[in-house]
Amino acid sequence: MMQKMPTQPPLAPGALPMVGHAASFLRDPVAVMRSGQQAHGPVFSIRLGPKRAAVVVGVEESRAALALPESTLAVRPVYQWLRPMFGEVMQAAAPSDYLTQRAALLPAFRGRQVSDRVTHVAQDIHAWTMALGSSGRFDANRDVERLTLDIAIGLVLGTQFRVRHGEEFRALLLDVAAGMDFFLPERFPAPRLIRRNRARRALFAMLSSELNAARTEPDPERRGYFGHIILSQDASGASFDDDTAIGLTLILCYASYETTAAQLAWVLVLLLQHPTYHKRVLDEVHTHLPHHQSLPTLADLRRLHLLGACLLEAQRLRPATSMLTRFVAEPVTVGGYEIPQGWNTLFCPPVTHRSPDLYPAPDTFDPERFSSERDSDGRAAGRLLNLGSGIHTCLGGHLADIEMRLVIALLLRRFEMRLVDPSPAPTTKPGPSRPAGPCLIEYRSHSHV
Ligand code: HEM
Repeated sequence: MMQKMPTQPPLAPGALPMVGHAASFLRDPVAVMRSGQQAHGPVFSIRLGPKRAAVVVGVEESRAALALPESTLAVRPVYQWLRPMFGEVMQAAAPSDYLTQRAALLPAFRGRQVSDRVTHVAQDIHAWTMALGSSGRFDANRDVERLTLDIAIGLVLGTQFRVRHGEEFRALLLDVAAGMDFFLPERFPAPRLIRRNRARRALFAMLSSELNAARTEPDPERRGYFGHIILSQDASGASFDDDTAIGLTLILCYASYETTAAQLAWVLVLLLQHPTYHKRVLDEVHTHLPHHQSLPTLADLRRLHLLGACLLEAQRLRPATSMLTRFVAEPVTVGGYEIPQGWNTLFCPPVTHRSPDLYPAPDTFDPERFSSERDSDGRAAGRLLNLGSGIHTCLGGHLADIEMRLVIALLLRRFEMRLVDPSPAPTTKPGPSRPAGPCLIEYRSHSHV
């Protein structure tokens, strides 16, 4: 019998002559991928001008594809935009360098290394909620991002560095972040890119002059991840050169603050939109983190089961990660379709997370789908793709969970809150998904009520 050859994935509806899906994809990529899923199921394709891309939205197909090696589905070509920002580090590094760098970072994200940092993070968040005063408004985008960036600087470079250089470092890193660009050459004379390149040089110069002092610091923990990176050695005993050590330090700050802030904004929005859960999480916080005890410990945070479930449900319904991309370096079969070499492959957590076969009533905010009663084996949580999958799975997921628990618990414990716009829409700009525009939250401390 003849064996059936796999065919290419079917084209999503709505492709126009010449441009294909480019215009609608630029406007709202998630909507294009959702309509592809409705028409064709877990694997299909789109056309962006002359370029073709496979889209994988089935969870099993996504996990299998994201587990493929760099020689098949490559990360490096699609992360070249990181290079003008931080140099050839992590996803932008050559595959063997990437493996050395990830292996060096891993121990810093495990067990005690993370729990030891909880007190610092809790102090920062406590100070932030106190500085809000007794009533007012904060922006769940801008103000929360400022908080998560300050936390990132403290974690990655140490609190003493933050006292000395925090203001300047923050402004420079934001200029680098604003220069994220997928298309233009590094030295293209656009003001945004000129500012990015200048800020990057200034950041590297700033951290170069910190390196020697950091190398002789008797307690590397005081230097946060910077201390860890500087002291890391590969199997042959070699340390990172200065540019790599600085690039890794900067990319950690970058990877941690924007994603966590965007996710936190959605957690706040969803909790405030669902008063029953808001009230139940508040009760849980009052039970496990009584007011007189100012700084929660990791053990306290672990008792907040309903809050934990709400964080997972927010990541399911409104994942900060709206898309993951890989380059097809050699032909590959995914979900029974052949994806040719030279295509991109896209993964879309917002679409996967709303598949009714994975999560019944997928548009409903139902945190208890992640409770130990309904999800005793953790399968529902295991299907989430917000933190990626495979070798590039997020290193900071545990840290982000702790940070989000702390922000929500300390805000709820202190304030009554209300969304000024009750239904903010998601932004369609590149980068993490967050509520569009300023997302104002009105607050008033409980003692005033
Ligand atoms: C809710 C917050 C966060 C979200 C949604 C998130 C999401 C992600 C995703 C989707 C990836 C994989 C990208 C890919 O496969 O192409 C990733 C990778 C990464 N994340 Fe996160 N992240 C978060 C917080 C953090 C934090 C707090 C840190 C560090 C302190 C961090 C550090 C990293 C690093 C270093 C990688 C690269 C891993 C690798 O390529 O080996 N992330 N993150």
